[in-house]
Amino acid sequence: MSEHGSPARVLAFINQKGGVGKTTSCVNVAAALALRGRRTLLIDLDSQAHATLHLGAEPGGPSSIYPTLVEGQPLAPTPVAPNLDLVSAETDLAAAEADLASADDRQHRLARALDAVRHRYDAILIDCPPSLGLLTISALTAAQQVVIPMQAHFLALQGVGKLLETISLVASTLNPSLRVLGVVVCAHDASAAHTGEVVADLERFFDAARAEASPWSAAVVFRPFVRRNIKLAEAPSFGKTIFDYAPLAPGAADYRAVADAIAAVSDALPRVVVAPRAAELVR
Ligand SMILES: Nc1ncnc2c1ncn2[C@@H]1O[C@H](COP(=O)(O)OP(=O)(O)OP(=O)(O)O)[C@@H](O)[C@H]1O
Ligand SMILES: [Mg+2]
Repeated sequence: MSEHGSPARVLAFINQKGGVGKTTSCVNVAAALALRGRRTLLIDLDSQAHATLHLGAEPGGPSSIYPTLVEGQPLAPTPVAPNLDLVSAETDLAAAEADLASADDRQHRLARALDAVRHRYDAILIDCPPSLGLLTISALTAAQQVVIPMQAHFLALQGVGKLLETISLVASTLNPSLRVLGVVVCAHDASAAHTGEVVADLERFFDAARAEASPWSAAVVFRPFVRRNIKLAEAPSFGKTIFDYAPLAPGAADYRAVADAIAAVSDALPRVVVAPRAAELVR
């Protein structure tokens, strides 16, 4: 994120586990930032095109990310709401990983395309697919900051461990500036006793890393947790954000507060400018 005037920070919403709340978080945090007056761009990097549909847009079309990744064309964001632009996804994106397999600069194409539009925005959010493949690596190469949406189950911690390994690898090779902002707890059920233990484990882990030079040395578990709220699950089928679909629902209050918390941590992080390296990671 950035103050008006400096180029946007790029935030990747990542978790290789499916159905944890990445798209719900990315779309509604982007919408909340836009409502706060921040010029925001959402990049849908998932061939499921859920973020595109959630914002009421058509997958593919002139704003698709596909020609940028495969043919090196410039991004063509399209406005979907005041202060909110979209670069859409399409099902062909699934083929992009194969099409790009032999391109030397494949991990850097997204980063380069974003560099050309960063000055137009305060925040650029990337909704990633549920995998650690080339598209996610491209997002980690293009981003300065990572947000990890997760559901607080014990098994989810293993997945976050694997994700942090990947982030660490990308930070030590392709993108030394990469920092983890924190974890958004999604679809929180206050009656589930183990949530507190999972969150405590995560916070212990992040606290232990404070003195180290790891990408997550400033990471937090964001508050509030996003409550399970049926309105959040209904909104995508109407092509609306929670703020347009049910502005008084608990889901709207939670994402407004989480977006403010993310913005505060993002703004507070020093702007580390380290040139990306052209190392190879994915073969
Ligand atoms: N707080 C919530 N309350 C109720 N339902 C939710 C909540 N958060 C997400 N959901 C629902 O859970 C499902 C999965 O969420 P979402 O699509 O955001 O996950 P995802 O991580 O992007 O999935 P994928 O890995 O397939 O991209 C969706 O149907 C969504 O509407
Ligand atoms: Mg998704």
